[in-house]
Amino acid sequence: MLILAVETSCDDSAVALLDGCRVIAESVATQIVVHSSHGGVVPELASRQHLEILPGLVEEVLAEGGLKGIRDLDVLAATAGPGLLGSLLVGLSWTKAAAWSSGTRFLAINHLAAHLHIHYSHEHPVEFPAVALLASGGHTSLFSMSSWEDIQLLGATRDDAAGEAFDKTAKLMGLGFPGGAELDTAAEAGDPTAVRLPAPLPDPALPEFSFSGLKTAARLQWEGGAELHDLSASFRKVIVDVLLSKLLHQANEIGAKSVLAAGGVVSNSLLRSELRRRCSIAGLSLHLPAGSHAVDNAVMVGRAAAAVLDRTPEASSPMNVNAFARWTGSFLEPLCT
Ligand code: KG4
Ligand code: ZN
Repeated sequence: MLILAVETSCDDSAVALLDGCRVIAESVATQIVVHSSHGGVVPELASRQHLEILPGLVEEVLAEGGLKGIRDLDVLAATAGPGLLGSLLVGLSWTKAAAWSSGTRFLAINHLAAHLHIHYSHEHPVEFPAVALLASGGHTSLFSMSSWEDIQLLGATRDDAAGEAFDKTAKLMGLGFPGGAELDTAAEAGDPTAVRLPAPLPDPALPEFSFSGLKTAARLQWEGGAELHDLSASFRKVIVDVLLSKLLHQANEIGAKSVLAAGGVVSNSLLRSELRRRCSIAGLSLHLPAGSHAVDNAVMVGRAAAAVLDRTPEASSPMNVNAFARWTGSFLEPLCT
């Protein structure tokens, strides 16, 4: 089952070719250079960039997979939301048009479900029940999973996402864009106990997060003269501690066998090492994506489509499916109808 997957929910244009959940080829074009002089993603520029970049990426991926064109595919899949509407509309409209003109089946995919589906694999199946952490620039959420068909939201952030807090604090300290990775690097040379920061919503039993107060506390420390590396290390540690304590509490509550980690913040070096260490102590099987598959990519969209097709081989999305900015449900489904 040859699937071409398209992801344009924010500032990364990404295309992947998969045979079921096996990756044949993938290509990602980040727009960092375009947005860095503005200190953040400019939505209209992101949409225009997707429009320019996407056709080239598709050609590249099809050529690498030895395909002549769209007609050789079985399914076309694209992210429909949540994300930046202008960006989503480019990938979604391009994919619908390609599907319609070639008579190929079309699937509209939920971006959050796609992040978790980076772990959908026949070779390394997830043992359920599982708890999933999704920590990205737009979302910080915990899910409980009794199977791939039953993904239930436990709780999410009440304000900023963890990635947003990393990015905004990095910007405040004059680090580059996107700031999460820069702050992570700066933290390596700092003392995580040097700067006192409040643990945000620290109750491990509460599966919700809040990072805006922490961001303000970091700003006050910065304005009060805190040293850059020490503040970065302290800030990173508070976020990692709160993510892990809530994740592991929920794992214990539901008797989880596995932990799934997904989203750009999962590239964070301390979060990765602590996830490995603490899941090993707790006897949990950890599914941790490579850094390139933690951040936005199209393989996750392709695997979400593969999961839909494994479950319902004749599945398809209607051609009038729309892009959406926010997801507000409690059960997460990969397919948008
Ligand atoms: O999943 P993603 O690519 O896009 C969204 O769906 O939001 O996540 C991007 C986020 C950004 O906020 C970025 O700063 C953060 O992931 N990020 C990191 C690291 N690398 C990327 N945050 C902390 N440490 C990192 N090493
Ligand atoms: Zn994402």
